[in-house]
Amino acid sequence: MNIKQFRYSTDNLGYLVYGKQLAGAIDGGATDAILDFIADKGLSLKWVTNTHTHADHTTGNEALLAASGAEYLAGAALRRDRIIELEDVKIDVYQTPGHTKDSVTFGLGSTLITGDTLFNGTIGNCFSGDLKGFFNSIKMLMAFPVETVIYAGHDYVQESLTFAKSLEPDNRDIDHFLKTYDPAHVRSTLQDEFKINPFLRFNDEKIVLMLKAKGLQTASEYERFESMCSI
Ligand SMILES: [Fe+2]
Repeated sequence: MNIKQFRYSTDNLGYLVYGKQLAGAIDGGATDAILDFIADKGLSLKWVTNTHTHADHTTGNEALLAASGAEYLAGAALRRDRIIELEDVKIDVYQTPGHTKDSVTFGLGSTLITGDTLFNGTIGNCFSGDLKGFFNSIKMLMAFPVETVIYAGHDYVQESLTFAKSLEPDNRDIDHFLKTYDPAHVRSTLQDEFKINPFLRFNDEKIVLMLKAKGLQTASEYERFESMCSI
């Protein structure tokens, strides 16, 4: 199974998952590019779905559905079935509420498509208001193998790492990540995130000291996460 990233609008990232004959679109806002790609490869679009229902992620649904015989997989069905199939491959659907109540993350082999839950270098805004739920979602993603590839819903790499660097000016891993960053293929591994993403580094000694220096709570993991989110 293959995954191709499509960039659209300014910084949105969507994905086409495809095998030999069938494809599925996740946040398929890059409709023309996706339809061209599908035609070039002789694929047929089986389903269209979203990481969550914010308009910038669902914007391509109608055009993709109108141009193909694809089925729309709505959030409620995803959360109920927890698995999507494409050819003989199963794609896991993990509930990762926090950014929104309906946010899901797709797991395909050693890749996670995280939408606006986890970005490369930062995490999403907690628009649901449920920060504890968001923390649990982030902790669940952090438990995947460190080589897991993170494909996010936006390219916020530059601004996220400018912020991360302001918190940790001596963090050389951030400079290294920026040197290898490619806006035409935006990705990181969980291992990268543990080195550069301050929102996943709430157990790192330097981050804890930085939070303490700001007079923020650091007693528990959740307090450290909450403190990071308050900066
Ligand atoms: Fe969003």
